[in-house]
Amino acid sequence: MAPQEHGFAGCQPKVGPGITFTVNDVSYTVDVDVPPSMRLVDFLRQRVKISGTKALCREGGCGVCTVVVTVPDPETAGRTKTYSVQACQTLVYACAGWSIETIEHLGNRFSGYHPLQTALHGFYGTQCGYCSPGMIITMYGQLQSGGSLTAEQGEESLDGDLCRCTGYRPILDAFKSLAVDGAQDLKDRLTDIEDAYKGMCKTTGKGCGGCKKDGKGCSKKAAESLPKVEKDLHFHFDNTHWFRPVSLNGLYSILNGLGRTDKVRIVVGNTEAGVFKNDGPYTAYISTSGIRELYSTRVGSPLEMGANVSLNRAIEIFEHMAASDQSYHHLQSLADHWKVVANVAVRNAGSWAGNLMLKHAHVGFQSDIFITLLMAGAELTLGHAHDGSPTHIDLEQFLQTDMSRSVILSVSLPPATVNTKVRTFKITPRAVNAHAYVNACFRMEVDPEDGFKVLNRPVILFGGINPQFIHASQTEDYLTGRRLTDSETVLEAAKLIGQEVKPDSHPHDASPAYRTALAQGLLFKAIVGFLGDKVPASIRSAGPNIERPLSSGKQSFDMNQESWPVGEPVPKLESAAQISGEAVYLDDVPALPNELHGAFVQSTEANARISSIDTTEAMKLPGVVTFVNAQDIPGKNSFVVMMQRFPDPVFAEERTAYAGQPLGLVVARDRDTAVRAAKMVTVHYEDVRKPILTIKDAIHQNRSSVAANFFTGKAESLTLGDTEGALTAAPHTLKGELSIGSQYHLNMEAHAARVIPTEDGCDVFCTTQWPTETQSTTAQVLGIPANNINVSVKRIGGGYGSKISRQHIVSGAAAVAAWKTKQPVRLVVDLNTNMTYAGWREPYYAQYEVGLDDYGKISALKMDLTSDAGHVANEPSVASLGTALQSAYYIPNLTFTPHIVTTDTAANTWCRTPGHVEAIAAIENVMEHVASYLKKDPHHVRMANMVPPQVPRLLAPPHERNVVKEDIMPMLLQEAEVHARMAAVADFNRSNRWKKRGLSVVPLWYGFDYPSLFRYGMQVAIYEHDGTVAVSHGGIEMGQGINTKVAQVVAYTLGVPLDQVVIKASDTMVGANSFVTGGSFGTDLCAHGVRKASAALRERMDVVKEKIEKETGKSPTWLELVKKCHGEDVDLCERYWTAGKEHPERYDIWGGCCLEVEVDVLTGVYMIRRVDLIEDCGRSMSPYVDVGQVEGSFIMGLGLFTSELVKFDPQSGQKLSNGTWEYKPPTALDIPVDFRVTLLPNSKNPHGVLGAKATGEPPLCLAYAVVTALRQAITSFRADHGDDSWFQMDTPITVEKVQQLCGVKPKQFDLYAAKSADADARGSSPLVRISQWMPGRRFL
Ligand SMILES: Cc1cc2nc3c(=O)[nH]c(=O)nc-3n(C[C@H](O)[C@H](O)[C@H](O)COP(=O)(O)OP(=O)(O)OC[C@H]3O[C@@H](n4cnc5c(N)ncnc54)[C@H](O)[C@@H]3O)c2cc1C
Ligand code: FES
Ligand code: FES
Repeated sequence: MAPQEHGFAGCQPKVGPGITFTVNDVSYTVDVDVPPSMRLVDFLRQRVKISGTKALCREGGCGVCTVVVTVPDPETAGRTKTYSVQACQTLVYACAGWSIETIEHLGNRFSGYHPLQTALHGFYGTQCGYCSPGMIITMYGQLQSGGSLTAEQGEESLDGDLCRCTGYRPILDAFKSLAVDGAQDLKDRLTDIEDAYKGMCKTTGKGCGGCKKDGKGCSKKAAESLPKVEKDLHFHFDNTHWFRPVSLNGLYSILNGLGRTDKVRIVVGNTEAGVFKNDGPYTAYISTSGIRELYSTRVGSPLEMGANVSLNRAIEIFEHMAASDQSYHHLQSLADHWKVVANVAVRNAGSWAGNLMLKHAHVGFQSDIFITLLMAGAELTLGHAHDGSPTHIDLEQFLQTDMSRSVILSVSLPPATVNTKVRTFKITPRAVNAHAYVNACFRMEVDPEDGFKVLNRPVILFGGINPQFIHASQTEDYLTGRRLTDSETVLEAAKLIGQEVKPDSHPHDASPAYRTALAQGLLFKAIVGFLGDKVPASIRSAGPNIERPLSSGKQSFDMNQESWPVGEPVPKLESAAQISGEAVYLDDVPALPNELHGAFVQSTEANARISSIDTTEAMKLPGVVTFVNAQDIPGKNSFVVMMQRFPDPVFAEERTAYAGQPLGLVVARDRDTAVRAAKMVTVHYEDVRKPILTIKDAIHQNRSSVAANFFTGKAESLTLGDTEGALTAAPHTLKGELSIGSQYHLNMEAHAARVIPTEDGCDVFCTTQWPTETQSTTAQVLGIPANNINVSVKRIGGGYGSKISRQHIVSGAAAVAAWKTKQPVRLVVDLNTNMTYAGWREPYYAQYEVGLDDYGKISALKMDLTSDAGHVANEPSVASLGTALQSAYYIPNLTFTPHIVTTDTAANTWCRTPGHVEAIAAIENVMEHVASYLKKDPHHVRMANMVPPQVPRLLAPPHERNVVKEDIMPMLLQEAEVHARMAAVADFNRSNRWKKRGLSVVPLWYGFDYPSLFRYGMQVAIYEHDGTVAVSHGGIEMGQGINTKVAQVVAYTLGVPLDQVVIKASDTMVGANSFVTGGSFGTDLCAHGVRKASAALRERMDVVKEKIEKETGKSPTWLELVKKCHGEDVDLCERYWTAGKEHPERYDIWGGCCLEVEVDVLTGVYMIRRVDLIEDCGRSMSPYVDVGQVEGSFIMGLGLFTSELVKFDPQSGQKLSNGTWEYKPPTALDIPVDFRVTLLPNSKNPHGVLGAKATGEPPLCLAYAVVTALRQAITSFRADHGDDSWFQMDTPITVEKVQQLCGVKPKQFDLYAAKSADADARGSSPLVRISQWMPGRRFL
């Protein structure tokens, strides 16, 4: 496309210097050397070569790529604005005149740290550290844009930043400690807190932490000093153009010049790239950021806003209007609604007009902007390129308008009467950064003096029903002229709306039944909200949404000072490097000059024969080097070696085993090219079969077998006592079932490998939890000896089991490509690929039969647990769950049968607390079932079944004490004020018909037995030069704090300060043959190993020390001793192998959790009000590391049981939950509002390492308390309506499931049913029977 052919008048291709911007004060000018589609994150990492800004989702959903930009503010010519944006969405050419700041600009070990960095470090807010730069820079953006930080802003600003490790609490505390209104106890904890505001800009008086006194280094100054871009710009690339007009006429002229086949993209925030990722490629990009008219705002009546006004700026304007002009009071609802659109960074960059265009192009998109503007009666002004004249249309006409040569110029919002009632809703799978299942707007002009008579035709709008559905027209007709205070009217309207909404059905959407229920429930909510105190108090609870207060946390633990630094609450060893972006992860290492990049070609069918793979078009793309598939594998096409029974191919050969399976690897000179080329490979399939995707389907298809037991090696049931006999004898028996869903690990650093050919083999750098297996699998795939392969791992950005075995597909593929090309190959998968090519946590299905007496004591349990292995059963966790299943209970007659099924899905793998958590869920579900059947309090049933000392256990020795019953429960009941709060919950439920609360207490026993296979090699070296100490161990640091604990143990044992100890990378030389780091075994055993090694060193050195003392009468300093030892030929290195037969003895971990929820029955939306968790950690080696493990693990468990839903396309088997848009782990605003963690005081462990106990996994099981608390809340609503039957709660228990289980019926929408509701509620809910389990009461 040549520009002349299109007649781009006044906009000739640029030949001179290109666009200029600064990155951390250094000026960069880009010309056509950078492709127009290049994102800022890639520019920073690849061209600027700074790596603190990370990339994961590339769709605006995770926050790791956040940077802060200072940009010319077109609204106030000459001034600048500063805010955070996501560099994965920002196009490089859109940065003209910007000053960009990354984490590197804030501080580091050389120049000192920014207060935000210090705070995160000081509050122990990093674990794997992969999210940390993004968290800090997001908060920095908030500080910079607002000039100050309040606690609320601090909390809400993190709506777009995911962290899988920490559970967010310490991150929130860290930032809130710097807030102007931060809680004093938080401020007190950060001793140098005053430093927080030393960064205030002397020039502007606003927050600006990177600013030096002389103004040098000030991003605002940097931006102001950049040349203003006041001329049209036009860059011409091979097939694409980039335009930046500075006037509307310039824009029209470009549009007029476009050919019929051109695909044009107007660029404002470019955040569409995060939603509709596959739109494009484009032949013309037009940045409209230079057109001032598009930013203009007229604050008056009507209110007018230019098309480029960002969502966040619009919110400010709405709030200003609502506060200052009565006739714009309704704009507060819009502001509130827009605050939950996307996340802070998207709202900073994204424009309202861009959002409307998304709706225009994808009419099914549940745009919150469209629906709210439509409700507000907005009118759009469009500009048309052909004649430049504006036209005015409403939003519904807009959807029908051909916009190919037209642009949105502005929106105009009319005033509303004082009696116009407005309500908007957005119902989402989690609190923030989620698109709506259903969104809705209600606008009614009413006469409050006349029964809230609807004076005009009301506006009732819905999104998320079906692409065509906007107005609930029949209901609008019906309500016109009717009185809202008339209950019959409301009942009829709800009925009508239920009939007229006809939700479509798609596997990735919520069910039509739920969406219909939402339409009805939201209408009722809106009306009740409008009526206020015209309805009885208990009905009023229908109206408001659940308000989330500011969250808080408390942590308590013992300080065992006598063994410090073991037991000292020290910050994580790597934390300083993590907060400054200096911590290096695999993909942060600069590429070698000849390094190639790979991208997978993945199958799109789950069960099909691969008839052909056509790479012709892909190979034509400049930069593509080769395509590698199974035929190129010199060794064996399997990436599994140890402990695995079945081969699992690196690349599929004849048939696909699951959708997403790698079929081959495109290798290119850069990653973008490899990714683009991989999409151009065409694969043909034959014999496509409908995939088996669920356990029940697999059972139906005879794909089930009894799983072999880890201990006996036999596929059989395990039995304690006489289960059949006890079932027959039991006064009552019950049967039930339960399904527990899968979970994506969400390692924030995706799977990656670099393989570099060497003179005798290859060096492999890999995101692995198991370097030994990486070495073995590479050797197997390449067919070369293991000693030719060197594997090294410095750290990984989260693992949770995902990097135990699955990432060997990546290292295997990269190795084959490196072998074939004889060049280094780097393969870093993106989030979408990671989620689809590798398996997740196994889904589970439980079937049980239980025998019980009248009191609730269980005499017998038959439990069949089935896990879904995916396409091959190599890593079933189900086999050994007989032990876990017992938890803190005693079931004298127990038969446990583990089953495994195979499905046409990726082979599932271990995920934090694999199987154990499902076993706990299964037994806790049984307790709830028993309680429901007997109409007893579930806690009573739990206490009645507590395990006494010295009774036989299935696959575990008897307990000496039941710590949960004797220590934890009494403490929990007291500290969590369970008794009083249960009464308060019961009161609340009696007084509120449409909001319900639930409170549940769950115990835990977790047997911790070191499997003999878990062995690690390690070495401790003391350097003669200065006495410093280096350690290398066979474990992997992935955030769990293994390095910190290891260093603490070494420092303690050798008797040196902690800062003299460093931990080196793990490799297959020192750590040869080490086993996987997982299950919390790695930390314990590596700590054990270095203790032994250090003790041996100390013993050797003490001989010399005694000699010196004898000779001189003085004790030598550490350095004198080291030098003397060296001089006397004492070996200052010691290696240790944690042999299986020398493992410490097994031990018990106990815990308990009290959790309270509040449910909005009409929508199913719920909030976790408070959690009190007590975990028995023995004598913690590192209390804040352990608190971090407890909190992070617990929040991961909450995700498993609540919002993390996995969906497949039933036809192709493709995983639909394949990115941040479709898969919803908890955010900082989903965690408990009040989160209190206690490490059990005075706990000792005679068996573990230095009295400690493992912490990384057990708390995840306690998260099941959210399900049992929700059951209480749901039960309460159902009981109000006379239904006290048992109901099955399969997990994740999404908001959809909660609402559906409540069983709301529109006929219950009686406005004046308060009296009967209160009467119904009396005593039928188990919540009111609290007196039976007062603290201290014994049941056995
Ligand atoms: C992570 C994430 C979460 C999100 N969550 C939500 C949500 O919950 N609810 C919701 O409603 N939306 C959501 N969005 C969508 C978001 O609001 C839009 O992406 C954003 O508003 C688009 O604005 P933009 O300036 O970035 O548009 P761009 O991406 O720059 O442009 C988008 C489209 O608009 C066109 N365009 C832009 N300006 C004009 C104009 N003046 N005239 C004609 N065409 C124009 C462009 O050609 C392009 O096709 C989310 C987006 C992301 C990335
Ligand atoms: S990588 Fe940019 S938000 Fe996830
Ligand atoms: S520390 Fe946040 S993801 Fe690991």
